[in-house]
Amino acid sequence: MANEREVVFYDQGAATQRMLAEVLAGFRRPQKQIAPKYFYDEKGSQLFDAITELSEYYPTRIEMQLFDQHLPQVRHRFGDQSLCVVEYGSGSSKKIRRVLDTLAPSVYVPVDISRQYLLDNTHELHADFPHIAMYPVCADISREFELPAEVDSLHKLGFYPGSSIGNFLPTEAVAFLRRVRRTLGQDAHLLIGVDAKKPAQVLEAAYNDAAGVTAQFNLNVLRHLNDQLNTDFRLHNFQHEARYNQEQGCIQMFLRSTCDQQVMIGDDTIAFTKGERIHTEDSYKYSVQEFLQLAEAAGFADAGHWQDDQGWYSLFLLTGQDAQK
Ligand SMILES: C[S@@+](CC[C@H](N)C(=O)[O-])C[C@H]1O[C@@H](n2cnc3c(N)ncnc32)[C@H](O)[C@@H]1O
Repeated sequence: MANEREVVFYDQGAATQRMLAEVLAGFRRPQKQIAPKYFYDEKGSQLFDAITELSEYYPTRIEMQLFDQHLPQVRHRFGDQSLCVVEYGSGSSKKIRRVLDTLAPSVYVPVDISRQYLLDNTHELHADFPHIAMYPVCADISREFELPAEVDSLHKLGFYPGSSIGNFLPTEAVAFLRRVRRTLGQDAHLLIGVDAKKPAQVLEAAYNDAAGVTAQFNLNVLRHLNDQLNTDFRLHNFQHEARYNQEQGCIQMFLRSTCDQQVMIGDDTIAFTKGERIHTEDSYKYSVQEFLQLAEAAGFADAGHWQDDQGWYSLFLLTGQDAQK
Protein backbone atom coordinates (compact mmCIF):
# COMPACT_ATOMS: atom_id res chain seq x y z
CA MET A 1 0.00 0.00 0.00
CA ALA A 2 1.45 3.38 -1.08
CA ASN A 3 0.81 5.35 2.11
CA GLU A 4 1.39 2.50 4.56
CA ARG A 5 3.15 3.78 7.70
CA GLU A 6 5.59 1.95 9.93
CA VAL A 7 5.41 0.05 13.24
CA VAL A 8 8.55 0.48 15.39
CA PHE A 9 8.85 -1.09 18.83
CA TYR A 10 10.51 0.78 21.75
CA ASP A 11 11.34 -1.43 24.69
CA GLN A 12 12.04 0.51 27.87
CA GLY A 13 12.60 -2.57 30.02
CA ALA A 14 9.33 -2.28 31.98
CA ALA A 15 9.20 -3.96 35.31
CA THR A 16 10.36 -7.55 34.96
CA GLN A 17 13.73 -7.05 36.68
CA ARG A 18 12.06 -5.18 39.54
CA MET A 19 9.17 -7.60 39.95
CA LEU A 20 10.68 -9.92 42.59
CA ALA A 21 11.89 -7.04 44.79
CA GLU A 22 8.55 -5.18 44.49
CA VAL A 23 6.44 -8.25 45.20
CA LEU A 24 8.54 -9.23 48.24
CA ALA A 25 8.36 -5.69 49.62
CA GLY A 26 4.55 -5.85 49.27
CA PHE A 27 4.34 -9.15 51.18
CA ARG A 28 6.50 -7.78 54.01
CA ARG A 29 4.04 -4.97 54.79
CA PRO A 30 1.63 -5.34 57.76
CA GLN A 31 -1.23 -5.39 55.19
CA LYS A 32 0.16 -7.69 52.48
CA GLN A 33 -0.31 -6.25 49.00
CA ILE A 34 0.41 -6.83 45.31
CA ALA A 35 0.44 -3.90 42.83
CA PRO A 36 -2.46 -4.14 40.32
CA LYS A 37 -0.04 -3.87 37.37
CA TYR A 38 0.80 -7.55 38.05
CA PHE A 39 -2.72 -8.65 37.05
CA TYR A 40 -1.68 -8.28 33.44
CA ASP A 41 -0.09 -11.19 31.70
CA GLU A 42 -1.82 -12.37 28.51
CA LYS A 43 -4.45 -14.32 30.50
CA GLY A 44 -5.03 -11.31 32.80
CA SER A 45 -5.59 -9.02 29.82
CA GLN A 46 -8.03 -11.53 28.28
CA LEU A 47 -9.93 -11.80 31.58
CA PHE A 48 -10.11 -7.99 31.79
CA ASP A 49 -11.57 -7.91 28.26
CA ALA A 50 -14.16 -10.49 29.38
CA ILE A 51 -15.05 -8.29 32.40
CA THR A 52 -15.79 -5.36 30.09
CA GLU A 53 -18.49 -7.49 28.38
CA LEU A 54 -20.33 -8.38 31.62
CA SER A 55 -23.82 -6.95 32.19
CA GLU A 56 -22.86 -5.82 35.73
CA TYR A 57 -19.76 -3.95 34.49
CA TYR A 58 -21.27 -0.61 33.41
CA PRO A 59 -18.05 1.52 32.95
CA THR A 60 -17.06 0.26 29.48
CA ARG A 61 -20.59 0.55 28.07
CA ILE A 62 -21.02 4.11 29.33
CA GLU A 63 -17.53 5.18 28.28
CA MET A 64 -18.17 3.93 24.72
CA GLN A 65 -21.46 5.92 24.61
CA LEU A 66 -19.61 9.04 25.77
CA PHE A 67 -17.00 8.48 23.01
CA ASP A 68 -19.77 8.19 20.38
CA GLN A 69 -21.39 11.39 21.60
CA HIS A 70 -18.34 13.59 22.21
CA LEU A 71 -15.27 12.45 20.24
CA PRO A 72 -16.30 14.38 17.08
CA GLN A 73 -16.31 17.57 19.21
CA VAL A 74 -12.84 16.69 20.56
CA ARG A 75 -11.51 16.23 17.01
CA HIS A 76 -13.08 19.51 15.92
CA ARG A 77 -11.12 21.34 18.63
CA PHE A 78 -7.79 20.35 17.00
CA GLY A 79 -8.74 21.57 13.51
CA ASP A 80 -6.22 20.38 10.87
CA GLN A 81 -3.48 19.80 13.44
CA SER A 82 -1.59 16.48 13.11
CA LEU A 83 -2.13 14.52 16.28
CA CYS A 84 -0.13 11.89 18.12
CA VAL A 85 -2.35 9.79 20.42
CA VAL A 86 -0.45 8.26 23.36
CA GLU A 87 -2.48 5.57 25.13
CA TYR A 88 -1.52 4.74 28.71
CA GLY A 89 -2.05 1.03 29.52
CA SER A 90 -3.30 0.25 26.03
CA GLY A 91 -4.33 -3.42 26.45
CA SER A 92 -6.48 -4.62 23.56
CA SER A 93 -9.63 -2.60 23.90
CA LYS A 94 -12.25 -1.73 21.31
CA LYS A 95 -12.05 1.84 22.58
CA ILE A 96 -8.91 2.75 20.69
CA ARG A 97 -10.50 1.75 17.38
CA ARG A 98 -13.27 4.29 18.03
CA VAL A 99 -10.63 6.92 18.90
CA LEU A 100 -8.46 6.24 15.83
CA ASP A 101 -11.54 6.29 13.57
CA THR A 102 -12.82 9.63 14.86
CA LEU A 103 -9.66 11.53 15.83
CA ALA A 104 -7.63 10.30 12.82
CA PRO A 105 -4.16 10.88 14.37
CA SER A 106 -1.07 10.51 12.18
CA VAL A 107 0.74 8.57 14.93
CA TYR A 108 -0.43 6.22 17.68
CA VAL A 109 1.85 5.34 20.63
CA PRO A 110 0.40 2.52 22.77
CA VAL A 111 2.24 2.15 26.09
CA ASP A 112 1.88 -1.06 28.10
CA ILE A 113 3.80 -3.17 30.57
CA SER A 114 2.73 -6.46 28.96
CA ARG A 115 5.33 -6.77 26.15
CA GLN A 116 4.05 -9.60 23.93
CA TYR A 117 0.42 -8.56 24.30
CA LEU A 118 1.39 -5.00 23.33
CA LEU A 119 3.24 -6.18 20.22
CA ASP A 120 0.54 -8.61 19.07
CA ASN A 121 -2.22 -6.06 19.55
CA THR A 122 -0.34 -3.26 17.81
CA HIS A 123 0.27 -5.41 14.73
CA GLU A 124 -3.40 -6.44 14.68
CA LEU A 125 -4.50 -2.80 14.97
CA HIS A 126 -2.02 -1.65 12.31
CA ALA A 127 -3.49 -4.17 9.86
CA ASP A 128 -6.78 -2.22 10.13
CA PHE A 129 -5.20 1.28 10.31
CA PRO A 130 -2.15 0.99 7.98
CA HIS A 131 -2.10 4.78 7.32
CA ILE A 132 -1.30 5.48 11.01
CA ALA A 133 2.36 5.10 12.15
CA MET A 134 2.49 3.08 15.36
CA TYR A 135 5.31 3.20 17.92
CA PRO A 136 4.47 0.76 20.73
CA VAL A 137 6.42 1.49 23.92
CA CYS A 138 6.87 -1.24 26.54
CA ALA A 139 7.18 0.70 29.81
CA ASP A 140 5.78 0.95 33.32
CA ILE A 141 3.49 3.99 33.35
CA SER A 142 3.77 4.29 37.13
CA ARG A 143 7.35 5.53 36.47
CA GLU A 144 9.00 8.00 34.09
CA PHE A 145 9.33 6.84 30.48
CA GLU A 146 10.23 8.56 27.21
CA LEU A 147 8.35 8.97 23.97
CA PRO A 148 10.07 8.08 20.66
CA ALA A 149 11.88 11.11 19.16
CA GLU A 150 9.81 10.70 15.96
CA VAL A 151 6.78 12.29 17.66
CA ASP A 152 8.60 15.36 19.05
CA SER A 153 7.00 17.88 16.68
CA LEU A 154 3.42 16.55 16.89
CA HIS A 155 0.66 17.76 19.21
CA LYS A 156 0.13 15.04 21.84
CA LEU A 157 -3.23 13.77 23.04
CA GLY A 158 -2.85 11.38 25.99
CA PHE A 159 -5.62 8.77 26.23
CA TYR A 160 -6.25 7.03 29.55
CA PRO A 161 -9.66 5.31 29.50
CA GLY A 162 -11.31 2.72 31.75
CA SER A 163 -10.96 4.73 34.99
CA SER A 164 -7.53 3.13 35.49
CA ILE A 165 -6.53 6.41 37.21
CA GLY A 166 -8.66 5.08 40.12
CA ASN A 167 -6.05 2.36 40.78
CA PHE A 168 -3.69 5.02 42.13
CA LEU A 169 -4.11 6.53 45.59
CA PRO A 170 -5.28 10.15 45.11
CA THR A 171 -1.78 11.52 45.92
CA GLU A 172 -0.24 9.04 43.46
CA ALA A 173 -2.85 10.07 40.86
CA VAL A 174 -1.64 13.70 41.10
CA ALA A 175 1.99 12.53 40.72
CA PHE A 176 0.94 10.41 37.71
CA LEU A 177 -0.84 13.37 36.06
CA ARG A 178 2.26 15.55 36.60
CA ARG A 179 4.37 12.91 34.86
CA VAL A 180 1.87 12.85 31.97
CA ARG A 181 2.39 16.61 31.52
CA ARG A 182 6.19 16.20 31.61
CA THR A 183 6.12 13.30 29.12
CA LEU A 184 3.61 14.76 26.65
CA GLY A 185 4.57 18.46 26.94
CA GLN A 186 2.97 21.37 28.74
CA ASP A 187 0.51 22.22 25.93
CA ALA A 188 -0.61 18.61 25.38
CA HIS A 189 -4.16 17.34 26.01
CA LEU A 190 -5.31 14.33 28.01
CA LEU A 191 -8.60 12.50 27.39
CA ILE A 192 -9.37 10.49 30.49
CA GLY A 193 -12.32 8.35 31.66
CA VAL A 194 -13.17 8.42 35.37
CA ASP A 195 -15.73 6.37 37.29
CA ALA A 196 -18.04 8.33 39.62
CA LYS A 197 -19.36 7.61 43.13
CA LYS A 198 -22.72 5.80 43.15
CA PRO A 199 -24.75 3.41 45.37
CA ALA A 200 -22.56 0.71 46.96
CA GLN A 201 -24.72 -2.14 45.64
CA VAL A 202 -24.17 -1.07 42.01
CA LEU A 203 -20.41 -0.81 42.58
CA GLU A 204 -20.14 -4.08 44.47
CA ALA A 205 -22.18 -5.95 41.82
CA ALA A 206 -19.76 -4.68 39.14
CA TYR A 207 -16.77 -6.19 41.00
CA ASN A 208 -18.53 -9.41 42.17
CA ASP A 209 -20.14 -10.54 38.92
CA ALA A 210 -22.40 -13.58 38.99
CA ALA A 211 -20.26 -15.50 36.44
CA GLY A 212 -17.16 -15.13 38.64
CA VAL A 213 -14.97 -13.54 35.93
CA THR A 214 -13.68 -10.80 38.27
CA ALA A 215 -12.82 -13.52 40.82
CA GLN A 216 -10.78 -15.34 38.13
CA PHE A 217 -9.10 -12.05 37.17
CA ASN A 218 -8.17 -11.35 40.81
CA LEU A 219 -6.81 -14.89 41.36
CA ASN A 220 -4.87 -14.72 38.09
CA VAL A 221 -2.37 -12.38 39.76
CA LEU A 222 -1.13 -15.37 41.78
CA ARG A 223 -0.82 -17.53 38.65
CA HIS A 224 1.16 -14.70 37.01
CA LEU A 225 3.54 -14.62 40.02
CA ASN A 226 3.89 -18.44 39.83
CA ASP A 227 4.84 -18.14 36.11
CA GLN A 228 7.21 -15.19 36.43
CA LEU A 229 8.80 -15.70 39.84
CA ASN A 230 8.46 -19.44 40.23
CA THR A 231 6.37 -19.01 43.39
CA ASP A 232 4.10 -21.85 44.52
CA PHE A 233 0.76 -20.17 45.24
CA ARG A 234 -2.14 -22.69 45.29
CA LEU A 235 -4.98 -20.65 43.79
CA HIS A 236 -7.70 -22.81 45.39
CA ASN A 237 -6.39 -21.68 48.81
CA PHE A 238 -7.44 -18.06 48.17
CA GLN A 239 -10.85 -16.40 47.71
CA HIS A 240 -11.83 -13.22 45.85
CA GLU A 241 -13.35 -10.34 47.83
CA ALA A 242 -14.45 -6.87 46.62
CA ARG A 243 -16.04 -4.27 48.92
CA TYR A 244 -16.90 -0.60 48.61
CA ASN A 245 -15.07 1.44 51.24
CA GLN A 246 -17.54 4.31 51.65
CA GLU A 247 -15.19 6.42 53.77
CA GLN A 248 -12.39 6.36 51.19
CA GLY A 249 -14.74 6.32 48.17
CA CYS A 250 -13.11 3.27 46.61
CA ILE A 251 -13.72 -0.35 45.74
CA GLN A 252 -11.06 -2.51 47.37
CA MET A 253 -10.19 -5.98 46.12
CA PHE A 254 -8.53 -8.66 48.23
CA LEU A 255 -7.54 -12.33 48.08
CA ARG A 256 -8.39 -14.06 51.36
CA SER A 257 -6.35 -17.07 52.47
CA THR A 258 -8.73 -19.96 53.26
CA CYS A 259 -6.18 -21.81 55.48
CA ASP A 260 -2.88 -21.36 57.32
CA GLN A 261 -0.23 -21.77 54.61
CA GLN A 262 3.27 -20.89 53.48
CA VAL A 263 4.41 -19.77 50.04
CA MET A 264 7.99 -19.69 48.64
CA ILE A 265 8.91 -16.37 46.95
CA GLY A 266 12.50 -16.39 45.71
CA ASP A 267 14.52 -17.60 48.71
CA ASP A 268 11.91 -16.32 51.20
CA THR A 269 9.00 -18.12 52.80
CA ILE A 270 5.89 -15.99 53.37
CA ALA A 271 3.30 -17.24 55.90
CA PHE A 272 -0.45 -16.59 55.59
CA THR A 273 -2.90 -17.25 58.42
CA LYS A 274 -6.43 -18.47 57.70
CA GLY A 275 -8.60 -15.42 56.88
CA GLU A 276 -5.61 -13.11 56.21
CA ARG A 277 -6.05 -10.94 53.11
CA ILE A 278 -3.74 -9.73 50.32
CA HIS A 279 -4.82 -6.29 49.07
CA THR A 280 -4.75 -6.46 45.25
CA GLU A 281 -6.55 -3.35 43.96
CA ASP A 282 -8.11 -0.02 44.87
CA SER A 283 -10.49 1.64 42.47
CA TYR A 284 -11.17 5.22 43.59
CA LYS A 285 -14.38 6.88 42.41
CA TYR A 286 -14.46 10.65 41.87
CA SER A 287 -17.15 13.30 41.44
CA VAL A 288 -16.46 15.83 38.67
CA GLN A 289 -15.33 18.41 41.25
CA GLU A 290 -13.08 15.95 43.10
CA PHE A 291 -11.36 14.85 39.91
CA LEU A 292 -10.90 18.40 38.61
CA GLN A 293 -9.22 19.29 41.93
CA LEU A 294 -6.70 16.45 41.41
CA ALA A 295 -6.12 17.50 37.80
CA GLU A 296 -5.61 21.13 38.82
CA ALA A 297 -3.14 20.11 41.53
CA ALA A 298 -1.11 18.50 38.71
CA GLY A 299 -1.20 21.66 36.55
CA PHE A 300 -4.04 20.62 34.24
CA ALA A 301 -7.11 22.73 33.39
CA ASP A 302 -10.58 21.55 32.35
CA ALA A 303 -10.97 21.81 28.56
CA GLY A 304 -14.37 20.05 28.59
CA HIS A 305 -16.07 17.25 30.50
CA TRP A 306 -19.10 15.06 29.89
CA GLN A 307 -21.20 12.61 31.91
CA ASP A 308 -23.97 10.11 31.14
CA ASP A 309 -27.53 11.01 32.25
CA GLN A 310 -27.23 9.07 35.53
CA GLY A 311 -23.90 10.74 36.38
CA TRP A 312 -22.23 7.31 36.73
CA TYR A 313 -19.14 7.96 34.60
CA SER A 314 -17.23 11.03 33.39
CA LEU A 315 -15.00 11.81 30.43
CA PHE A 316 -12.58 14.73 30.80
CA LEU A 317 -10.49 16.59 28.24
CA LEU A 318 -7.65 18.28 30.13
CA THR A 319 -4.90 20.59 28.99
CA GLY A 320 -2.05 22.47 30.66
CA GLN A 321 -3.16 25.49 32.71
CA ASP A 322 -0.81 27.74 30.69
CA ALA A 323 -2.03 26.37 27.34
CA GLN A 324 -5.63 27.13 28.38
CA LYS A 325 -5.00 30.88 28.96
C1 LIG B 1 -7.60 -2.34 32.56
S1 LIG B 1 -6.62 -2.59 31.14
C2 LIG B 1 -7.17 -1.24 30.18
C3 LIG B 1 -7.17 -1.52 28.72
C4 LIG B 1 -7.82 -0.43 27.89
N1 LIG B 1 -7.02 0.80 27.88
C5 LIG B 1 -9.23 -0.15 28.37
O1 LIG B 1 -9.50 0.90 28.94
O2 LIG B 1 -10.09 -1.02 28.19
C6 LIG B 1 -5.14 -2.09 31.72
C7 LIG B 1 -3.97 -2.20 30.77
O3 LIG B 1 -2.93 -1.42 31.34
C8 LIG B 1 -1.73 -2.15 31.42
N2 LIG B 1 -1.05 -1.71 32.64
C9 LIG B 1 -1.46 -1.84 33.92
N3 LIG B 1 -0.58 -1.29 34.77
C10 LIG B 1 0.42 -0.77 33.98
C11 LIG B 1 1.63 -0.08 34.25
N4 LIG B 1 1.99 0.23 35.50
N5 LIG B 1 2.40 0.28 33.21
C12 LIG B 1 2.05 0.00 31.93
N6 LIG B 1 0.92 -0.66 31.61
C13 LIG B 1 0.12 -1.05 32.62
C14 LIG B 1 -2.13 -3.60 31.46
O4 LIG B 1 -1.12 -4.44 30.94
C15 LIG B 1 -3.41 -3.61 30.62
O5 LIG B 1 -3.14 -3.87 29.28
